[in-house]
Order: sequence, then structure tokens, then C-alpha cells
Amino acid sequence: MTDLLDRTVAAALAKFRPPPRLPLSQWIERHLRLPEGLVAKPGPIRLWPFQREIADAITDPEIERVTVKKCVRVGYTTLLTGATASYVANEPAPILTLLPTEDDCRNYIVSDLEPIFDASPTVAGILATAADETGRNTIRHRRFPGGSLKIVAARSPRNLRAHTVRILLIDEEDAMEVTNEGDALDLAIKRTLSFPNRKIIRGSTPTDADTSTICREYEASDQRVREFRCVECKEFAHCETFFNQHDRWIDGITPWIHGKPAQGNLTFGVCGTYRGEPDFDSVLSMTTLAPPQVKLTNAAGPDDPMTTVEPFFLKGGRFYTYFTSTPAAYIHAVPTR
Ligand SMILES: Nc1ncnc2c1ncn2[C@@H]1O[C@H](COP(=O)(O)OP(=O)(O)O)[C@@H](O)[C@H]1O
Ligand SMILES: [Mg+2]
Repeated sequence: MTDLLDRTVAAALAKFRPPPRLPLSQWIERHLRLPEGLVAKPGPIRLWPFQREIADAITDPEIERVTVKKCVRVGYTTLLTGATASYVANEPAPILTLLPTEDDCRNYIVSDLEPIFDASPTVAGILATAADETGRNTIRHRRFPGGSLKIVAARSPRNLRAHTVRILLIDEEDAMEVTNEGDALDLAIKRTLSFPNRKIIRGSTPTDADTSTICREYEASDQRVREFRCVECKEFAHCETFFNQHDRWIDGITPWIHGKPAQGNLTFGVCGTYRGEPDFDSVLSMTTLAPPQVKLTNAAGPDDPMTTVEPFFLKGGRFYTYFTSTPAAYIHAVPTR
């Protein structure tokens, strides 16, 4: 009898249990739509493979910080909007989005956040405007059931005072300047301290290597890289996509090799990109070195050993990818001169 009662109670309670939480990648693909005008192909979003892992790290309860050192147009801002929508819908909390300038805030709201929310039935109309500290309604301060969303410019760090936030979303932090009002990044992170389950999501295209906060934070992380299997040899490749500013010829490459095994050739090359992914159908240059030819070096400098390659041309205003591919455990990165 007790058994039957237990089972009946358990069955009744099960009805009230919330559905299992979806990892962010699945939630985004199930509930978010990219609107017309924002993308060539509007409709349900299908994440690019590298976006999926970043998304799932964001909602992993074991992970407090996610740091994305990135190039432009790889869908990071879209992921921040996806994370915002998921918190609003599934796990309401005080959320703060920190962007470099007031213009960035306005552009983000008008061109990304609102169009995606409006196009996605699960969250359409859920963000109400709320009054800021002066009592004015503003598009940068939103309320939703159980939480709030503030979108703040790093240029005006005084807007960060008097708030506590559990979810901090940061975009383009290397473009943020410390003003005489203080260091917005630092202030924003302090605002999360009262939440043991806080989340700090940071992303940026790195700018100056000496002052870059995203590089520093990435170094403090477990430093995952996006790895691709080389289409030619099927070995793992390390890829780094970059924006090439000006037309130029390249005739030498300085791979930073910090360690090398006794065997296993190292191939490195440059190819074009397609939608943020390396396009191995457009390889511009490829050079293979046997271990004795590989020179160890730790950082780029004028005296670093250069490996001469067949000259190739990079067009200005285009993205390219450096890739290295090897069956052996080299520790490397590949800048050109
Ligand atoms: N999974 C996806 N599928 C199709 N388009 C996408 C996807 N993710 C992002 N985009 C689009 O790609 C462009 C660049 O994305 P964005 O998030 O602004 O990149 P980033 O912030 O890294 O520069 C935008 O137009 C965005 O709508
Ligand atoms: Mg962006």
C-alpha cells in the first residue's frame, strides 16, 4: 500500500518537474530564428559546429567563465543573444551586457537583439522597457518575468554602480578604454561577486598584444583551440583565421614552435575562408617540414628563424586561415612575417 502510495505521489510530482534543461546549442536551434534582413537565409538558426561547443560551455553549470578569443563575423555576438534569450526564457536572472560604446549598445539592440527576439516566438515581446536610475524609460534597460537585462557602455562605467548581476556578457572588450570614471570591465566583474552561480562570458577580437585583456584571460583558461582535420592528410590541424588588411605578398613564414617530437612532419599553409570556416579548396600555399628542419622559437621577433615559402598573394579586406597539420605533438602557432 505504501508502495502504491509512493508510486502515485511520485507520478503526481513528476508532472510538476520542469522539463530537462537543454544544452544551449540545442535550445538555440529549437527556439531561435534569424530574421530576414540580418542574414541571407532567414529562419531557424543552425549553429556552425564551433559555435555549438561554445554555446554548451555557456550553460554548463560547472563552468563559471567562457572566454572567446576570436576573429570577426564568426557568430559570437549571435551566441550572446542566444544566451540572453535562453536565460530570459529558462533561468531568469539579472543580466548585464557590456559593450564598448553607447553606439555599440544601440546598434546591438536595434540590429541584433530586438530582431532576433522579435523573430523567435518563444521570446517575442518578452522584454519590456524599464526605467533607468533617472526614472526614464530606456531601450537599454529591460524587464522580464523574474529578471532584468541592462546593456551598458564601458565608456559610462557609472551606469554599472548599484547593480548586482548573475550573468555578465561582454563583447569586444579589447575595444574598451579605461576612463576617468574607472575600469568598466573590472567594475562589471565585481558586480557579479554576490552570486556563487555567476557566469562571465567574455569575447573579443584581440587588438594590441601587450594590453589585450582577452589574450590575458584566454591564457588563464584551459586554452581550447578550434581544430580541423586537414582535408589532404586527415591529420589534426590547428587553424587561425585572420583579417588581412592590405594587399601583400608573403614569401616566408615564422611558425612559433615551442616543442617538437623526433618524428612526424609538420605541414603548414594558408587558405581562404568560407562563412567563418577555413576553405581547404582554396589553399594558397603549403609547406611540409621534417622534424630536423623545424626550428624552435618562442615568440615573434626580427631574429626569428624564417621558413621560406613559394611567394603567394593575400588580398586586402579578406579573411584567410593559417593552418598547421601534423600527426605529432608539436606545440605551435603560425604568424607570417
Ligand atoms: N549559425 C549561424 N547561421 C547563419 N548565420 C549566422 C550564424 N551565426 C551568426 N550568423 C550571422 O553571421 C553574421 C556574423 O555574426 P556575428 O554574431 O555578428 O559575429 P561576430 O560577433 O563573431 O562578429 C551575422 O549576420 C549573423 O546573423
Ligand atoms: Mg560581434
